[in-house]
Amino acid sequence: MPFRTRYTGLIDKYRDRLPVHDDTRIISLGEGNTPLIRLNNIPRVLGKDVDIYVKYEGLNPTGSFKDRGMTMAVTKAVEEGSKAIICASTGNTSAAAAAYAARAGITAFVLIPDGKIALGKLAQAMMHGATVIQIKGNFDKGMQLVKEVATEAPVTIVNSINPYRLQGQKTAAFEIVEELGRAPDFHCIPVGNAGNITAHWIGYCEYSSASGDHVTGACSFCHGQCKYAGGAVVGNRPKMVGYQASGSAPFMRGKMVDDPDTLATAIRIGHPQSWDMAWKVKEESGGWFDECSDDEILAAQKLLAEKEGVFCEPASATSLAGAMRDITSGTIPEGSTIVCTLTGHGLKDPDIAIKQSTPVQAVDATLEEVKKAILANME
Ligand code: F0G
Repeated sequence: MPFRTRYTGLIDKYRDRLPVHDDTRIISLGEGNTPLIRLNNIPRVLGKDVDIYVKYEGLNPTGSFKDRGMTMAVTKAVEEGSKAIICASTGNTSAAAAAYAARAGITAFVLIPDGKIALGKLAQAMMHGATVIQIKGNFDKGMQLVKEVATEAPVTIVNSINPYRLQGQKTAAFEIVEELGRAPDFHCIPVGNAGNITAHWIGYCEYSSASGDHVTGACSFCHGQCKYAGGAVVGNRPKMVGYQASGSAPFMRGKMVDDPDTLATAIRIGHPQSWDMAWKVKEESGGWFDECSDDEILAAQKLLAEKEGVFCEPASATSLAGAMRDITSGTIPEGSTIVCTLTGHGLKDPDIAIKQSTPVQAVDATLEEVKKAILANME
């Protein structure tokens, strides 16, 4: 008989480190367990001796890291008797909320910003049967409205202010440590609302703590949800480096940004909900924040697709864009092991991908024309 190896999602896998009971009904689509891909060609392009891995979160069931948090948030919402969930979203959260609500048989309401949402994400929310409400305002306004609505209507917020979201998302750090056999030296990650950078830090701290590293103080991130609430730790943890798009970079400005703008619509956020926690992550980990221009972000997205065969959405490429700059300048030294989180799949935003690619060649349907087109492009 073959050995049974069916993967049944991250709650099943990390059940002992997540706030679930033996009889909790788990709402899962098999999320997590995403590939950690070692880049072969980009370090050569940079001319630096570094190990860069990308954690390809775009291969989650709805195409982004949001599924990790959503399996937890929806599982708990259902356990607590909720019949409806709500979120504000730049797109990916709404896609995940819609899918997991469909799986659970409950209702999803999603508030999305006017116009600035990638087509793939909108298609997902609509297809899964969510009630999609487009507001004449940006994500930050949507977030404010969601918080207000939730005080008056029986709906559970599933944005990352829901502590279960971060609990699910922390498992990405577990997977990385398990695969590398240690934490990386640097973990580079795009920052919007700053939930994911916080969740990764919780994950690294817990893993380190569970491995018996030195405990230095109370865990200040998890709102008592984690099973290692006894202490945060020093030891086998990376420096956390958060990159923002220049037009939406409140962590660089040191204050909220009222009119954020970037082509990387997923991180078009001026009022991050996890503001205080993200500053703490930076300090505790000895990391930093930096910003990337839209041009740098798109160039990194293209380079990754062309040189490594990995297609991520623009916001995701912010981690690699920033890491490449910091590797080139030596801020991230040679000899380092670096993990860049690629938060969402490139197919989420086909418009941007097509716009920045060489146009398709239209030729007559004859052997001669096709041969001509091939020969003209032979290296
Ligand atoms: N990358 C992608 C592809 C995202 O969709 C998001 C956030 C982030 C990065 C930033 O993560 O907010 O935890 O710092 N998207 C949210 C959404 C806001 O509504 O889908 P963060």
